[in-house]
Amino acid sequence: MKVERSYEEFVTVRDALTGSIGFVPTMGALHEGHLSLIRRAKEENDHVIVSIFVNPTQFLEGEDLDKYPRREEADRRICELAGVDLLYMPTTDQIYEEDELSIGAPKIRGYILEGAKRPGHFDGMLQVVMKLLNLSRADRAYFGKKDAQQLVLIRQMVRTYFMRTQIVPCEIVRDPDGLALSSRNLYLSDEERRRALSLSRSLKRAAEMIQNGERKSEVIRRAMEGILESEVDRLEYVAIVDREFRPLERVEEGNTIILVAAWVGKTRLIDNLWL
Ligand code: PAJ
Repeated sequence: MKVERSYEEFVTVRDALTGSIGFVPTMGALHEGHLSLIRRAKEENDHVIVSIFVNPTQFLEGEDLDKYPRREEADRRICELAGVDLLYMPTTDQIYEEDELSIGAPKIRGYILEGAKRPGHFDGMLQVVMKLLNLSRADRAYFGKKDAQQLVLIRQMVRTYFMRTQIVPCEIVRDPDGLALSSRNLYLSDEERRRALSLSRSLKRAAEMIQNGERKSEVIRRAMEGILESEVDRLEYVAIVDREFRPLERVEEGNTIILVAAWVGKTRLIDNLWL
């Protein structure tokens, strides 16, 4: 496995790779969720590129940029064992210049839900993902459904800018008890982790209600809030939207995403269910 930090060396190594390229962008502290993307990329392509970059422009003032977990050595070993061909770990000055132009998230879809709670987050996210997709010139890039709004916005960017990488959505990986894997789970104490299970439990309840014939979003949302409110420290939202992130009054099977965001202690968690 080659590990590159500079942009020029990365491009040289990348350009020497022949055959199809699968790309998995990450912010590191790799877990089974990331690994599932890497494995899928490995299955479907001749070569796999992974990037690890804690992108400052997608963190808002006061967010966890400084304490975001950094585990370079472990991550490097994980990538090596997973058969990654090229690992890109750039420094910030390799990625950004001063006073650069940037694309922005769409005014509606980029500023509701996660975008409303973290205004500007998706601008920074799209800015770096465009750079990374252009640098990797991948045939396919793999993203988790865990970050549902991120995935939908990346697909829109690729469509809008006629980018040529195929965006491959991947299923959410969970611990056996249901907790969706996240690098931020490392922040949780045992007691908080137990309360964090209410997110996946509320989604499971929603799935059961839908299976039993319930379609009204309001009824499903209230049931979820009932489960969450006694467990989390602050519920940010429960939302039921279609695949383009438009609010739905009634669940449409095959076209619905149910989303939840909440704080447990000092940790902000998100989870969702695609129907
Ligand atoms: P990060 O949070 O490290 O996630 C990298 C990729 O792993 C994303 O596509 C995310 O959706 C996926 N992922 C995380 N947890 C997952 C889980 N439990 N199951 C399946 N996939 C999971 O998302 C980012 O980094 C950044 O915003 C990035 C796209 C790299 C741009 O900076």
